[in-house]
Amino acid sequence: MKLSDRLQAIANFVPRNSIVGDIGTDHGYIPVYLVENKISKKVIAADISSNSLDKIIQYVKLTNCKKDIDIRLGDGLEVVKPFEIDTVVIAGMGGLLIKDILDKDKVKRDSITHFILQPNIASKELREYLFENNFEIIDEKLIKEDNKFYEIIYARKGKAYISKEIYYEIGKKLILNKDPLLEEFVNNKIKTNEKILEELKDKNTEKSMERYKELIEKNCELKEVLKEYESN
Ligand SMILES: C[S@@+](CC[C@H](N)C(=O)[O-])C[C@H]1O[C@@H](n2cnc3c(N)ncnc32)[C@H](O)[C@@H]1O
Repeated sequence: MKLSDRLQAIANFVPRNSIVGDIGTDHGYIPVYLVENKISKKVIAADISSNSLDKIIQYVKLTNCKKDIDIRLGDGLEVVKPFEIDTVVIAGMGGLLIKDILDKDKVKRDSITHFILQPNIASKELREYLFENNFEIIDEKLIKEDNKFYEIIYARKGKAYISKEIYYEIGKKLILNKDPLLEEFVNNKIKTNEKILEELKDKNTEKSMERYKELIEKNCELKEVLKEYESN
């Protein structure tokens, strides 16, 4: 089965011969792809919802991957033992939930080497968490699917230094890699902010004036990112 561009980009970050935990697997497309393509030796496909788990049980039955995919019901990393997996995929949920899943069990989290994370929202908060907890972002990729942008983050444990606040919101690797979608992604954010600025411009409350100022500054930072991208 052909993966969507988003799922394919996630799978592309998974190292060869890995043992993977796909947390919040839902349909199970990633586990089956990783095993069928001999990228992973074994995948633990886990979800908190039994409805989701039924989907993967049905899907795996149609494949020859049954012996290499271990399907488990549970919350976050509670389904794995320390050092049982070397790679974790947590994709298609909010950045705050991904952060909570990682933070809930630090012993298990710290026994994992490769972290492939795809937050649907709150990527800034997730990057902040990663930097505050001694993770290094090794690579990033943007995908656009159904008119929506997706940020895929590949991180490992390590020390990293963030030189500008804006790199929490726009991953520095996307600039360094000259990601083909970055310009559109940043311009999209600038336009959204401009629309809000237009709505705020005649409002005189302290809160709206404060927000107005913040958004003006944010757009300056985003335009700086575009300049950096162009000169890279
Ligand atoms: C939108 S789906 C994403 C499925 C797939 N990972 C993808 O990227 O296409 C999110 C899944 O995460 C599961 N989920 C939410 N919170 C979870 C948690 N704490 N632990 C495990 N799974 C969770 C949901 O049940 C749902 O199946």
